[in-house]
Amino acid sequence: MTLNILAFESSCDECAISLVSTERSYKQLVLSQMDHAEYAGVVPEVAARAHLLAIEPLFQNFITTHNIQPSDIHAIAATCGPGLMGGLLVGGMFAKGLALGWKKPFIPVNHLEGHLLSPRLDPGVDFPYLAMLVSGGHCQLVSVKGWRQYKVIASTLDDAAGEAFDKIARILDLGFPGGPAVERAAKNGDCHTYDLPSPRLKPRDGNPFPLSFSGLKTAVARLAESLPNKTESVIANIAASAQKAIVDQLVWCVEKGLQEGDWKGVVVVGGVAANQALREKLSTVVGNIPFVAPPLSLCTDNAAMIGWAACEQLLNDPRINEPDFPIRPRWPLEALNITPLINH
Ligand code: KG4
Ligand code: ZN
Repeated sequence: MTLNILAFESSCDECAISLVSTERSYKQLVLSQMDHAEYAGVVPEVAARAHLLAIEPLFQNFITTHNIQPSDIHAIAATCGPGLMGGLLVGGMFAKGLALGWKKPFIPVNHLEGHLLSPRLDPGVDFPYLAMLVSGGHCQLVSVKGWRQYKVIASTLDDAAGEAFDKIARILDLGFPGGPAVERAAKNGDCHTYDLPSPRLKPRDGNPFPLSFSGLKTAVARLAESLPNKTESVIANIAASAQKAIVDQLVWCVEKGLQEGDWKGVVVVGGVAANQALREKLSTVVGNIPFVAPPLSLCTDNAAMIGWAACEQLLNDPRINEPDFPIRPRWPLEALNITPLINH
């Protein structure tokens, strides 16, 4: 039987709703807040207030456009963490209230698990797979052996890759959000112009191939300061060189991870997975294994991935209903594992 889930996402600056079925069809609506552009970064209180204003009209618009009746829906889902407390509260409370009013089960979703499972919604990938999860707040290489069998193999020691893109965009005055702005500028530049740091760090504290982007950010700031005449082409060359430094390090990390298991696929997920240079380079290093990247609309924050993560919960536990689940601004991926990882 096909089950439909209505899902909400509000953990950062996207307010989003989707209708996702266990048969992998989905419709979605995403509202990206631009209120943060003048600060060149997401301001939590501004985000929370914007979610509060947006969520009811977004919901009304979506159910009217798609003529959704309560009887079409099996369960309501929402991101309950990790993320910004204010936005999570707005989306979580709205979804829980709706579940109560419509007498539907409520399914809490971990945002990182939403990203991690997104390629199983579209285009589809089987377990076990190796996932590079790269967003504004997270940068982790994850072994995904099965549903809720997740192991973070490697992670960043400092900034996340998306954060690095955002900081570099700020230094180069390219606007917000930073990742797409750097990518756009980089298209007109030569990535070999500047040799920027892309470290290959030694194992540290159980992290066998740690990532680090803070040195790159400092190097870009110094380079920009040292160049008196920052023409458009100079900026394009810096953007292209910085993007190459980030992509090369991520690709190195995936190449190392490839040797750690027998994977049925390598996936890239999260906002930075929208980056074409990263997608192209990764597709060339995976060898005979399929390289799987979700469509761009499922890379940056969206509610379809939240709906799909809820579908996977429902398929594993048909009676799930957790209306009292708390909001968890910190909620690590590995806390979701059903059993301790043995021989992982
Ligand atoms: O997953 P996401 O939408 O939100 C978080 O959960 O953090 O990721 C947002 C991050 C931002 O840092 C943004 O600059 C980056 O993803 N991003 C990109 C691109 N599109 C979004 N980075 C590089 N290239 C892109 N095309
Ligand atoms: Zn995200």
